[in-house]
Amino acid sequence: MLAAYAARISPDDPLSALEIGERPDPQVPDGWTRVRLRAAALNHHDVWSLRGVGLSADRLPMILGCDGAGVTDDGREVILHSVIASPGWSGDETLDPRRSLLSELYDGTCAEQVVLPSSNLVPKPEGMSWATAGSLSTAWLTAYRMLFSNAGVSPGDTVLVQGAGGGVATALVQLGSAAGLRMWVTSRDAERGQRAVALGADRAFASGERLPERVSAVMESVGAATWSHSVNSLNPGGTIVICGATSGDAPARAELTKIFFKQLRVVGSTMGTIGELRRLVDLVDRQGISPVIDAELALAEARDGFARVAAGESFGKIVLTMGA
Ligand SMILES: NC(=O)c1ccc[n+]([C@@H]2O[C@H](COP(=O)([O-])OP(=O)(O)OC[C@H]3O[C@@H](n4cnc5c(N)ncnc54)[C@H](OP(=O)(O)O)[C@@H]3O)[C@@H](O)[C@H]2O)c1
Repeated sequence: MLAAYAARISPDDPLSALEIGERPDPQVPDGWTRVRLRAAALNHHDVWSLRGVGLSADRLPMILGCDGAGVTDDGREVILHSVIASPGWSGDETLDPRRSLLSELYDGTCAEQVVLPSSNLVPKPEGMSWATAGSLSTAWLTAYRMLFSNAGVSPGDTVLVQGAGGGVATALVQLGSAAGLRMWVTSRDAERGQRAVALGADRAFASGERLPERVSAVMESVGAATWSHSVNSLNPGGTIVICGATSGDAPARAELTKIFFKQLRVVGSTMGTIGELRRLVDLVDRQGISPVIDAELALAEARDGFARVAAGESFGKIVLTMGA
């Protein structure tokens, strides 16, 4: 089958580690299901994998991809839950210390087929497009948990999203505005900020710009470049929810004094449970939300999509399409 996979690790030139080519069809272990993919969106995670973050050389070659939707051998249209718990784990799978995401221990979704535990499938609502269904498993699930499980905000509150154009950032804006939150974004690029406003954000600011008033919560995925601004932008008692550190995880200032003096909460957030994925799918379906799509590309053209994500050029999701 055709697949996009990490053939090697390259911390400085991730695209040189990417191959698009033939891989063997997967074997289906007992209790697992084969899904013939119809759509799989890219995430920054795929670029981290090519750089060797979360993926070691002994696990190569590894098919990339954490987002996906497709059709099982018995004809069910499904959305994939990418968090794979270890055998015997019960409870919140994101808290399993031995959990993995598809493409870390088991081959991922940038392929014509993938296998995963049969319990990791959520029915695709009738009428939902494959591009939407194939975009929800990772950035959108992460955004859902950040906003609705971890931020402690209510409709009417103001939430700042650091970054405007990323997969997580656009999902936060679309979900938050649908839920009645006042969403503000920052961006390194004024045009990307305005695109976020067109998507539902209330206002856009330049990265690091002083805000007209402080906010209830900040959604962090940028890391070092925006950390101090996140701390400074919060009301006393406010919350930073952090899911990533694209610009690095060692900010120039940790801002410890401001964090305790303003009694801020700093909450780490990773992916979500299959229950949260079901609620996300239901919300997106009922509200008629269409995740903003930067580009739809055939799997054979995946390299162009990886290049756009690696360069920080994509706005929203890049969706790879497979099959009929
Ligand atoms: N913990 C989890 O479960 C989880 C899940 C999903 C993602 N993540 C992490 O979250 C991060 C974002 O993921 P993604 O897929 O949304 O990535 P992405 O699509 O590549 O988006 C990157 C975002 O970061 C902003 N950005 C990048 N460098 C910046 C800088 N130097 N200064 C200011 N803003 C900067 C961009 O904003 P502008 O270009 O608009 O300025 C954009 O919004 C990644 O590090 C990823 O690994 C974690």
